Order: sequence, then structure tokens, then C-alpha cells
Amino acid sequence: MQVRFGIMADAHIEFIHDGEARVRAFLDTCISEKCDFLMDLGDFLPPGETNAAEKERIRALLRDCPLPFYHVLGNHDADENEKASVLSYLNCEQQPRSFDCGGVHFVLLDACYYREDGKEYGYANGNYKKTAGEVPVLPQSELDFLKKDLGSTALPSILLSHQSLIESRTGIKNPAALREAIADAPAGVLLAICGHEHVDRLEKRDGVYYYCLNSMSYYWAGERYAHTTYGEGIEKAHPMLRLVFPYRDPLFAIIEITDGEIRVTGRRSEIVGALPEALDFKKAGLHERITAAIEDRCLPIG
Ligand SMILES: [Fe+2]
Ligand SMILES: [Fe+2]
Repeated sequence: MQVRFGIMADAHIEFIHDGEARVRAFLDTCISEKCDFLMDLGDFLPPGETNAAEKERIRALLRDCPLPFYHVLGNHDADENEKASVLSYLNCEQQPRSFDCGGVHFVLLDACYYREDGKEYGYANGNYKKTAGEVPVLPQSELDFLKKDLGSTALPSILLSHQSLIESRTGIKNPAALREAIADAPAGVLLAICGHEHVDRLEKRDGVYYYCLNSMSYYWAGERYAHTTYGEGIEKAHPMLRLVFPYRDPLFAIIEITDGEIRVTGRRSEIVGALPEALDFKKAGLHERITAAIEDRCLPIG
């Protein structure tokens, strides 16, 4: 195995004031690091009026990017859109659901579904916020696809999704079904990477690493912890900035996989303005430390 790719998650371009610079830094680094491809784990760039001019500039960057750039959809991408229109906006309607690169099999999974009264529904126009059902789930259609796909590859696999595939605060509600679907994969699953939670976390279960990649941009604070960071000039145009703990620099990672190990090269930054401790920030079920960092990691294989 020999593959190197750049990966980012949860840029939330709609909310922030410097999204273009963040995406540009990611692209420039991945190109100079000679990555084989780029991966975005969702909550990125939904169509719509908010921040429209900057979004167009970022779309131009994506169009000019010389490397393949894959996307999985995040929940917020479907807040005001259908999934198909987001994929079309990102120019990736035809992207493969799985592909091989450098001796590794990569599988893109969509966990933007909920289950209500025994039926599964895909996210669209924010519908998932109104259900009393299970949110999110990896639906049967994705489980069936995954089982079949893993059964037909002789290469070890990496799973990519927006929401966590293992038990976590906001991960899928059916992680046991996921584990069952991958248990008999002939060449095995090395790693499952998610975004969504805006934290840096790694755990291992049944020989599979489950890795949560921190957000490129911020940790969510919410109305109760609203505070000013950048001042009225910027926050008038970008009011959501009052509701987050912004990361000064864009966070992303380069992941290199060889026969012996998975090596994550991350980035460290700092929170701009008030720190969570200063606001006595608390969130039910949050066990991870809020940190503006993607730590370097070396994960042995085998
Ligand atoms: Fe997010
Ligand atoms: Fe999300």
C-alpha cells in the first residue's frame, strides 16, 4: 500500500468570513505535498444565497483543482437543499461510491438518513430536525451496498462518512449493524473516518480504527454562549460567528498509508477570542476536549 490524501471536514463556508482562504490553504498544501486525491467529509458548501459570492469563488477553486476531490454529504448540506442539488453544485454527481487508490479501497457512505416508524428517510430541506425518530442511521440500502462492495474487493478498505459509525454523541444509531456489515470483509477494514462532531478523537474496536476528524473552522457554541470575537463589522455580515469558537487557522490533515502504518499529519491552531472554559461552556454528553487541533498520529496496521 502506498497512498497519500488530503482530508478536511466541516468547513461550514456559510457561517465563516474567511472560507476561501481556508480552502485555498488546504488545496495548496495538498498539491505541494503531492497528494493522490482530496476528501471532504461534509458540512461544506451547500447552494443558497448566504455567502453566495464567496461560495462562487470557492467553486472556481474546486473546478481548477488538478487533483480528484471527493465529497460525502453532511447534515447541514441538506438543511435547505435536496442532496442531489448539493452534489450537482459541487460538480460531483458522477463521483464513484467506492474507488481504489495506491492499493487501498475507499468507500463513501451516506449516513444522512433518519428512521421513523420503521421507515427510513433521506435528509432533505432540514426534515431530519423535525422527526422524533432515530437520527441519524446508516440505512439498509447503504448497509447492503457496503456489504456487497467490501465483498468484491481484494484490497483493505477505508470508510468515509460525515457522521460517526461507532457509538458517540451524534453518531449513527445503528453502529452494531455497521459492524455486522463489515465483519466478514475478505480484505478487512482498516479505518473509518468521520467529521460532524468537530473534535479530534480516535478509538479502535474489532481491529478497526474509528477516527473523528476535527472541523476545518470552529467548534459550535450555540445561542446560550453567544459572544463577540471579530467585532460588529465582520459579525454583521456573518452573524453565526457569534455562536462559535473559531479556529484561527484552517485545520485539515494529510493521511499516508503504507504497509505498516497509517500516518496522520494534522495541524495545530488556537481558538480565537473567548475560550470555552472562560464562558463555562458545557454540552451534555460531550466527553472530548474542545481543541483547535488535529493531532499527528501514527496508527500501526496489523
Ligand atoms: Fe459540522
Ligand atoms: Fe454535521
